[in-house]
Amino acid sequence: MILDRFERPLRSLRVSVTDRCNLRCQYCMPETDYVWLPRDNVLSFEEIGRIVDAFTETGVDRVRLTGGEPLLRRDLPRLVEALAARSAIHDLALTTNGVLLMQHAHALKLAGLHRITVSLDTLDPHRFATLTRFDEHRAVMAGIDAAASVGFRSLKIDSVVIRGVNDGELVDLLEYGRHVGAEVRFIEYMDVGGATRWTPEAVVSRREMLRALESRFGPVVPVAEETSAPADRYALPDGTVFGIISSTTEPFCASCDRSRLTADGMWLMCLYAKAGTDFRRPLRAGATQEELVQLIRTMWSLRADRGAEERLASERRLPLIPLAALKKDAHLEMHTRGG
Ligand code: GTP
Ligand code: 5AD
Ligand code: SF4
Repeated sequence: MILDRFERPLRSLRVSVTDRCNLRCQYCMPETDYVWLPRDNVLSFEEIGRIVDAFTETGVDRVRLTGGEPLLRRDLPRLVEALAARSAIHDLALTTNGVLLMQHAHALKLAGLHRITVSLDTLDPHRFATLTRFDEHRAVMAGIDAAASVGFRSLKIDSVVIRGVNDGELVDLLEYGRHVGAEVRFIEYMDVGGATRWTPEAVVSRREMLRALESRFGPVVPVAEETSAPADRYALPDGTVFGIISSTTEPFCASCDRSRLTADGMWLMCLYAKAGTDFRRPLRAGATQEELVQLIRTMWSLRADRGAEERLASERRLPLIPLAALKKDAHLEMHTRGG
């Protein structure tokens, strides 16, 4: 196990398998045009496997596949199968927008995927279309049902809460989650990556969310647990458990054990990092496994990132990356680095 400058171990790797997405969520991809990663630069499954092996050698035991939309990557179950066969990986999860989940849920289950998280911000089909620019609400709902019916037991639903957009839906989303057997997590709107429309006023804080839920359901109690996960979990009086991820108003950097790999092999040690470590080049130049492991050890031991905490301390908060800079470097985008 390696520790960074703040004594944080490296335990979790989020692997983005494509920067493409089939939705255009307002908080992630609000622009009309995007510059995509060159296709030749996108890592093959074999290359991803080699990099993941180097990470598990340094102590990583949780892997999450992300995108863009990971189900747009052809033959994704083949990658899942290869990773599920690696005994060093104790937790293998997928984050998806759910649009293609109905088609792929069964194959993902057979391939050995452990867990699925679906992003769903609204139960209203019209609002969904406005928020994502595609009329795919039914497909997502069907995808969630399919995941449950092929036997995924630890389903989660991630909802980014935006003032004036879906902040009136917390109760309905919780009830929907209970109905389909999924744990709902409310996520504070972050100023990261492509969130060029972000404003401080649009953020609904954890505190506000809890107040709204308590006025409807009565006292909400924190679930006592020691984890490094970003979500703090709570229980309603009837026992329903949900989570809140308060990256914006109460960041969890102090216990952050995660990092991410982009589809073209850039390793980012913080969600807010402006630059990363390129793995594609050494890998394609014939680096040995030992050399990759050494690169991880060296870079992680130098890590002093606490991006979300620094943002919180900044005075006048605007979106992290101005649009002109985003357009010049696809690696700054949230859809490139994974949600
Ligand atoms: P579990 O393993 O199921 O607990 O997943 P997770 O808690 O890692 O959550 P998930 O991958 O679904 O991410 C949910 C949301 O948490 C993301 O979309 C982000 O909004 C936020 N998040 C995830 N990773 C980070 C991170 O490294 N830093 C910060 N600040 N926020 C993050
Ligand atoms: N704020 C919060 N979460 C975001 N995501 C992407 N952009 C943002 C943002 N600006 C995350 C959400 C979504 C996933 C695909 O990425 O969790 O569900
Ligand atoms: Fe970790 Fe960076 Fe997110 Fe903080 S902002 S929790 S250091 S990834």
